[in-house]
Amino acid sequence: MEKTQIGAIPPMGWNSWNTFTWDINEQLIRDVADRFISEGYKDAGYEYIVIDDCWSLKQRDDKGTLVADPVKFPSGMKALADYVHGKGLKFGMYSCVGTHTCAGYPGSFEHEFQDAELLAKWGVDYLKYDYCFKPRQMSGELLYKRMSLALKNCGRDILFSACNWGEDNVYQWIRESGAHMYRSTGDIQDNWDSIKNLATSQLNKECYTGSYCHNDMDMLVVGMYGGSNSDWIGSKIGGCSDNEYKTHFSLWSIMGSPLMIGCDFRNANQITKDILMNRDIIAINQDIECRGAYRIKPEPQWFNSDDVFMSVKVLTNGDIAIGFFNLSDTQRELSLQFWDIGIPYASGISLSMYDCWQHKEIGVFRERFAPVVPAHDCVIVRAKLVK
Ligand code: GLA
Repeated sequence: MEKTQIGAIPPMGWNSWNTFTWDINEQLIRDVADRFISEGYKDAGYEYIVIDDCWSLKQRDDKGTLVADPVKFPSGMKALADYVHGKGLKFGMYSCVGTHTCAGYPGSFEHEFQDAELLAKWGVDYLKYDYCFKPRQMSGELLYKRMSLALKNCGRDILFSACNWGEDNVYQWIRESGAHMYRSTGDIQDNWDSIKNLATSQLNKECYTGSYCHNDMDMLVVGMYGGSNSDWIGSKIGGCSDNEYKTHFSLWSIMGSPLMIGCDFRNANQITKDILMNRDIIAINQDIECRGAYRIKPEPQWFNSDDVFMSVKVLTNGDIAIGFFNLSDTQRELSLQFWDIGIPYASGISLSMYDCWQHKEIGVFRERFAPVVPAHDCVIVRAKLVK
């Protein structure tokens, strides 16, 4: 898949946190890069390999420079970035607005320009910037603006991934800061309730995502099946069904979130691969105009729950992506009246529907389409207008 300017469309990649948390090292990252190629993830559009928290020493050196942990990364970050670049991929790292990162390593507070320069020197292409240990009197908004300026002036194109968990009404000011994506939610966990809560928390914010500043609903848990280092993310409470992972991937895709894989995809089963590399779904996410998806409540209108809805995303070529989401615990029929998406019966226009999970045409419909959707599941169609 050909990419455009950095951050124009939702970034796709892999991040170490969900599965490996503190247990990271250069061999893992190299291996991830190799397997991105051999397993077909790069061809499917995944590009960034991001090291999250816990990569540095606990202290800066005497010049105030961050130091990569020599036990975890004995060849150094420059060599690792070169390796990743050698595979035609991009290299991402992590820091934090505050004095410390969330796991207690040095943060970039009052070192923003110095750290941006170091990242550029190492060949970093992406910076995730967290929100822990922010001095109380400082404005988070200002600190994101600061790092954004530092990155934009460090001499290298570095995608800026802001991560303040949706606090301080971030969607109101983040676009102006220069960030390319912004976390709108608290940390995801590898369970259905977490997926559902994160998705529904963004249902009234569809208009705040778009080109160059994407609403990041957090890294994917698809394929984790409870396999995290951390109890918080899911080693004890974790794991979803395959349908739940499919629904998760569909929600993130149609709602325009960056797609950052969080599982150890090196051991992925076929179902996980089929989800993460579903090109029909990815194409909806990566559509160049990056329209936010708007929500339609299914008929009858009295069915008033956030658990059951349709997401409609207008695509660049005039097609319409429609997600029929049933996040409730019972099977439902979701009825879409085409009137509600701008197609009156009198226009004579029908919709030719392609099912993005079955990968096949499912027919031409006039006025109404009403799939029956099992609990925690979804139907995603790409509809073409036909006369
Ligand atoms: C925060 C972020 C997570 C992860 C951890 C690392 O909780 O939201 O995504 O980066 O910090 O400590």
